[in-house]
Amino acid sequence: MTLRVGIIGAGPSGLAQLRAFESARQKGAAIPEILCFEKQDDWGGQWNNSWRIGLDGHGEPVHSSMYRHLWSNGPKECLEFSDYSFDEHFGRPISSFPPREVLFDYIKGRVEKSDVRKYVRFNTVARHTSYNEATQEFTLTVEDLKTNLTETHVFDKLVVATGHFSVPSVPEFKGIKTFPGEVLHAHDFRGAERFYGKNLLMIGSSYSAEDIGMQAHKMGAASITISYRTAPMGYHWPENTVERPLVTHFQGSTAHFSDGTQGDFDAVVLGTGYQHKYPFLPSALSLKSPNVLYPGNLYKGVVWQQNTNLFYLGAQDQYYTFNMFDAQAWFARDVMTGAIDLPPLAQREADIQLWLERQAALPDHDAEADFQTDYLRELIDATDYPSFDLDAVSQLFKDWMRHKHDDILGYRDMVHRSVVTGTMATKHHTRWLNAMDDSLERYLHGPSQDIDTDTPDAVTDTLVAR
Ligand SMILES: Cc1cc2nc3c(=O)[nH]c(=O)nc-3n(C[C@H](O)[C@H](O)[C@H](O)COP(=O)(O)OP(=O)(O)OC[C@H]3O[C@@H](n4cnc5c(N)ncnc54)[C@H](O)[C@@H]3O)c2cc1C
Ligand SMILES: NC(=O)c1ccc[n+]([C@@H]2O[C@H](COP(=O)([O-])OP(=O)(O)OC[C@H]3O[C@@H](n4cnc5c(N)ncnc54)[C@H](OP(=O)(O)O)[C@@H]3O)[C@@H](O)[C@H]2O)c1
Repeated sequence: MTLRVGIIGAGPSGLAQLRAFESARQKGAAIPEILCFEKQDDWGGQWNNSWRIGLDGHGEPVHSSMYRHLWSNGPKECLEFSDYSFDEHFGRPISSFPPREVLFDYIKGRVEKSDVRKYVRFNTVARHTSYNEATQEFTLTVEDLKTNLTETHVFDKLVVATGHFSVPSVPEFKGIKTFPGEVLHAHDFRGAERFYGKNLLMIGSSYSAEDIGMQAHKMGAASITISYRTAPMGYHWPENTVERPLVTHFQGSTAHFSDGTQGDFDAVVLGTGYQHKYPFLPSALSLKSPNVLYPGNLYKGVVWQQNTNLFYLGAQDQYYTFNMFDAQAWFARDVMTGAIDLPPLAQREADIQLWLERQAALPDHDAEADFQTDYLRELIDATDYPSFDLDAVSQLFKDWMRHKHDDILGYRDMVHRSVVTGTMATKHHTRWLNAMDDSLERYLHGPSQDIDTDTPDAVTDTLVAR
């Protein structure tokens, strides 16, 4: 009987799984029966963002945490698909840190080219899963959000590709309930224009806190205070930005910090991260993990230990993104089809433990980039995913982190070389700090590529937005 594969989610990870099978089909392999369920009306996951917050038009939790003016926070050269380059998609070199709409276009380009949309059921949410040990089959209940009709599907293999940056972690702070200004989690942040002239308090010390804080600066916030729990980020912040240790409590609009300092704020944004949540899975199959580079209980970061018919894609914290999801999807495909033999449980556990021990000893960000690079190398070596110079990408991550450290407002103006095509990125026509139109149209067809940064054009961008 033909293998039946169910995929939940059509973000970059779910699309990687579709593409992995399509790639095998193009090479002449027989491929399984595939069905992918996506609760939104289009694919792209986080990149298919929405103006909505809270619930979507069907009353489902809004998935994407992305916002206006979100530009790639890592070099695009670190996430490039090795079977579909930026050059192939755009037909010319582009800059290294494109805005959301440009990356969304790139993601869509590859899957449109490979004709895999036919496998996806849109507006269809996974509700419930059960596993029959005797038949080794999953029964998945899904709901068509347009008709509210539920149906069940039976699969031999199930791929969970629902992401883990959508369900916010929202800590409690004494007195926050009576803070008179706006309080929101980064998941519900849609744009920093409203912080013009305001004093903003960010809580958290990772990508969301940094980027939303600097968006607020870009949009003219009076001051930005970033409150950390474990350690400050320590960037060379603009003059109106400071880091403080954790808030102990609020009194009216005043936040008190653990070093005894205090400040008055107009708004609070919690950049306090996300939870892994899989409400459609029974607890025995549901991954519980903090946001780490190597979650436990997944062999090669992909295969569920106690049930090797279950696969998770993109469940780890991410230096690499699109190309890592690809490597995982190619690996999962080959495990599903039997092209890769899984070792016995104890051997898999020993392998997981080795990675966990190494993870526990990682001294710094450079070591983390090397760690995920080595992880990717193992996956790519095991499959026919087109290899690329992983050491060069690891070096790109290190250069990027140094650029960020040196110039938090300017790192996105740097250019990097593709390891897939060797093409050097072009400098974008407008510096990130001045770019107030993040549309694909403006990005591609704005002023000519060599117009410099503080030109009238850049200033116009600024004036138009304010
Ligand atoms: C604010 C923010 C900014 C980011 N910026 C960058 C960046 O600049 N560069 C970068 O490389 N990465 C970035 N990322 C990381 C991003 O998560 C990955 O690039 C990528 O989107 C992960 O893909 P995924 O498919 O694993 O998950 P997602 O993109 O989250 O996609 C999961 C999909 O599953 C669907 N789904 C969820 N639950 C169900 C269900 N029950 N039934 C059916 N469908 C369901 C969702 O609708 C969604 O389409 C960012 C993430 C966030 C939150
Ligand atoms: N393209 C972009 O510009 C952009 C922008 C935003 C986000 N992103 C992406 O979004 C993903 C998620 O990033 P994220 O920053 O939201 O999450 P994250 O990286 O998981 O970081 C969560 C942060 O919240 C802090 N935190 C958690 N609980 C807390 C508490 N009780 N009190 C105080 N602080 C607490 C953590 O502090 P500790 O260090 O103490 O644990 C950590 O600093 C990443 O993949 C990132 O790349 C990208």
